[in-house]
Amino acid sequence: MSDSGTVIESVLQERRKFPPPEKFAAAAHIKSFDEYKKLYAEAAKDPEAFWATIAEKELTWFRKWDRVLEWDVPFAKWFVGGTLNVSYNCLDRHLDGWRRNKAALIWEGEPGDRRTLTYHELHREVCRAANVLKALGVKKGDRVGLYMPLVPELAIAMLACTRIGATHSIVFGGFSAEAVRDRMNDAQAKLVITADGGYRRGGTVALKDAVDQAMTECPSVEHVLVVKRTGQDVRWTEGRDRWWHDEVAKVDSKCEAEPVDSEHPLFILYTSGTTGRPKGVVHTTGGYLTHVTYSSKLVFDLKDTDTYWCTADIGWVTGHSYVVYGPLANGATSVMYEGAPNTPQPDRFWEIVARYGVTILYTAPTLIRTVIKWGAQWPEKHDLSSLRLLGTVGEPINPEAWMWYHGKIGGERCPIVDTWWQTETGGIMISPLPGATPTKPGSGTLPLPGIFPDVVDREGNSVGPNQGGLLVVRKPWPGMLRTIYGDPDRYVKQYWSELPGNYFTGDGARRDEDGYYWVMGRIDDVVNVSGHRLGTMEVESALVAHRSVAEAAVVDRPDELKGQALAAFVTLEGGYQASEDLKKELRDHVAKEIGAFAKPDDIRFTDALPKTRSGKIMRRLLRDIAAGRDSAGDTTTLEDYTVLARLRESEE
Ligand code: WTA
Repeated sequence: MSDSGTVIESVLQERRKFPPPEKFAAAAHIKSFDEYKKLYAEAAKDPEAFWATIAEKELTWFRKWDRVLEWDVPFAKWFVGGTLNVSYNCLDRHLDGWRRNKAALIWEGEPGDRRTLTYHELHREVCRAANVLKALGVKKGDRVGLYMPLVPELAIAMLACTRIGATHSIVFGGFSAEAVRDRMNDAQAKLVITADGGYRRGGTVALKDAVDQAMTECPSVEHVLVVKRTGQDVRWTEGRDRWWHDEVAKVDSKCEAEPVDSEHPLFILYTSGTTGRPKGVVHTTGGYLTHVTYSSKLVFDLKDTDTYWCTADIGWVTGHSYVVYGPLANGATSVMYEGAPNTPQPDRFWEIVARYGVTILYTAPTLIRTVIKWGAQWPEKHDLSSLRLLGTVGEPINPEAWMWYHGKIGGERCPIVDTWWQTETGGIMISPLPGATPTKPGSGTLPLPGIFPDVVDREGNSVGPNQGGLLVVRKPWPGMLRTIYGDPDRYVKQYWSELPGNYFTGDGARRDEDGYYWVMGRIDDVVNVSGHRLGTMEVESALVAHRSVAEAAVVDRPDELKGQALAAFVTLEGGYQASEDLKKELRDHVAKEIGAFAKPDDIRFTDALPKTRSGKIMRRLLRDIAAGRDSAGDTTTLEDYTVLARLRESEE
């Protein structure tokens, strides 16, 4: 929680409005604002009937459910008694008709190598990989860790897990060995799938090396399956380590999809919370797949003629839901690109859009801001006329970046869907429907039919138009997280105790006079750096773990490119001297403990931190200092006033 009284203040005023282009609307799944409103009202009248109709229409079930929803607040079960299989829905059911030979994945590696997998080919590869998992002793219900570059084998491995009912836990390839170790231990993974390395910004990332380090303290892991990607040297532990290419050659390409219960855990994905330890967010099968299939179709207006590209890494939830599961369940063509947007030069994304004729592009505001900095000459070099729809996710987009995206990338003809959601929500919650909803730059606009958010004060009362408040969700929805892995109490405490009966998002928001949502960011100690959610506590714990650090407080400050940057205030143990070398050492230390993306941008050494009399660090003051603002806020609870003056003097 923020330590100031008001929840959040709203300062943004944006009046521009863009109706959906007529031609786009005429061909869209949802063709008008009236149609959207009708659908929303229908869902509001009977949410369970609404979701049941979607689950029935969009997915193939082996056994139909007995009950749509069991809601034992805050524990939900959707489509109770139903059985299905995710890989069957993403693959097998497309093989009967012409989609058999349609591209499921179009992949490009950073060095320029390319692979296209049709639905038929992807199905074969997934069946083989599933047989390998079985041969290595993985059974239904076991957890499998994936720590991989963005190569087709990552999607294949995910689908192979779902095929046999194993639960995957993906760790983003930018995380460190320590993060891999902690996540594998928390989930008690039986198998880890990795690669020798991956390509990034012209260099390679030594993934196998990190896994080797992690494995010295992961007793539950029996085997490590290694995809050969870069060909770099790796250490080898006989018996434990297996090459992917050797193992798939030993098995056949037939593997029946295992029917699993609708509530069978599909995956665990770790995300930052307000206390140090990452939370293993658990998503299950039937409800999640219903939500991502439906939202992919409506928000991206997916058609069989589309070439759809979501630029997210699969290590984050966006990649799970909108690179792999949502698009493939819809039988779409999904583009995957392994590397950086400026390798070999800053037009790589636009080259890819032009090469494959990408029609739908879904990316992050931080990428857009970076592209703006590189200059319009890079997109201008390429023919982007295939694009018909643009999307953003991960953080609020500032209206000027929205306008640039609209003009320079969308040629003023493409609607933009600004999609608000979270790891916990599983799928998109608030977003325009591109053929229906007039957009306003910077607003996620309105909730999807079947989703019931609200903006409330601390007592849970809805606040009036244009008043800031807490963003909550009033009713359960199919894609919602079910629990925190191994810690149901934390699930209840984190999400359902702030306002009992309501899902607490941790975001602040306001609704304008049209009912449009404007999400203003986190109100807890979680920051969003380059679209990646980081708990400041985690970075603090990493810093304090260094022998020189006595105490650390990490806050966010505005940053033009990343949206938010991290500023760390550090007090040293006796005997250590502040120095540039030590700053570097601390930044490297955080990179080792968490990952390079979590390195503090600024480190300031100070002899004390501002605290309340009860000993709570006053982060709001630190935030003001980090941003170079005068503190306007209340300092009456400050224990030692001189600390502030001294902090201000501590130059970055
Ligand atoms: C933020 C990513 C404003 C928000 C899918 C949320 C956004 C957190 C938007 C979730 C958006 C995501 N507008 N803010 N369109 N999308 N956020 O779990 O603070 O990595 O709570 O999921 O990102 O981040 P996560």
